[in-house]
Amino acid sequence: MVRPLIVAPSLLAADYGILGPEARRAAEGGADWLHVDIMDGHFVPNISFGVDILPMLRRYAPDATLDVHLMIAQPDRYARAFIEAGADILTVHLEAEHNVTKTLKMIRDMGCKAGLAINPLTLVEHTYALLPYVDLLLCMTVNPGFGGQTFIIEVLEKVRSAKKFIDDRHLEVDIEVDGGVNLITAGPSVTAGANVLVAGTALFKQPDMAAALKEFRFKATEATAAG
Ligand code: DX5
Ligand code: ZN
Repeated sequence: MVRPLIVAPSLLAADYGILGPEARRAAEGGADWLHVDIMDGHFVPNISFGVDILPMLRRYAPDATLDVHLMIAQPDRYARAFIEAGADILTVHLEAEHNVTKTLKMIRDMGCKAGLAINPLTLVEHTYALLPYVDLLLCMTVNPGFGGQTFIIEVLEKVRSAKKFIDDRHLEVDIEVDGGVNLITAGPSVTAGANVLVAGTALFKQPDMAAALKEFRFKATEATAAG
């Protein structure tokens, strides 16, 4: 089943001196979602933003869909706070220390969309039993922790398998790729079955967000459009 293409600029690559206006620039430039990377220095070797970033972003981009990616060791302890602060989609890692099913159910019970993320070395089959509790499957295309890394092309094999599994069972699950997604890797990602593309460096480092998003969408869909 073809799901709509969603492009989600990642604020990790924005100018932190003007983070609010950067969020507005992405939203007004035509971003579908805003991707917010939360890192705790335990689950990944880097620290980024805390929960208070969300109400601030909401002030600058009131209508944005906030796609929050928790790269934290104990997501079950913080999920509620991130939802109350304004997350529209909350993604937790399979590899983190929690009862994954319970966390996913709690996220949905609070009226938020639930995402499940896996690192590049995690087998995608480990997510299959959990997909009924999930709105979005995030296949990391770099090892999480930093922007600006190189896309790991082998992950697309997992995207292909997941897409087939999801379609065969008529599940309503978006597939997101995150890390190293740019004008070259966007097309192959979509061809493999991803419909949500997260891009930090490739979008925020461009001076004209609207033009960058337009070109990004074109590159993402030209292969599928050509059939
Ligand atoms: C990496 C983050 C990504 C990051 C992607 O751990 O999850 O969302 O911002 O950055 P780029 O697009 O620069 O690889
Ligand atoms: Zn991310």
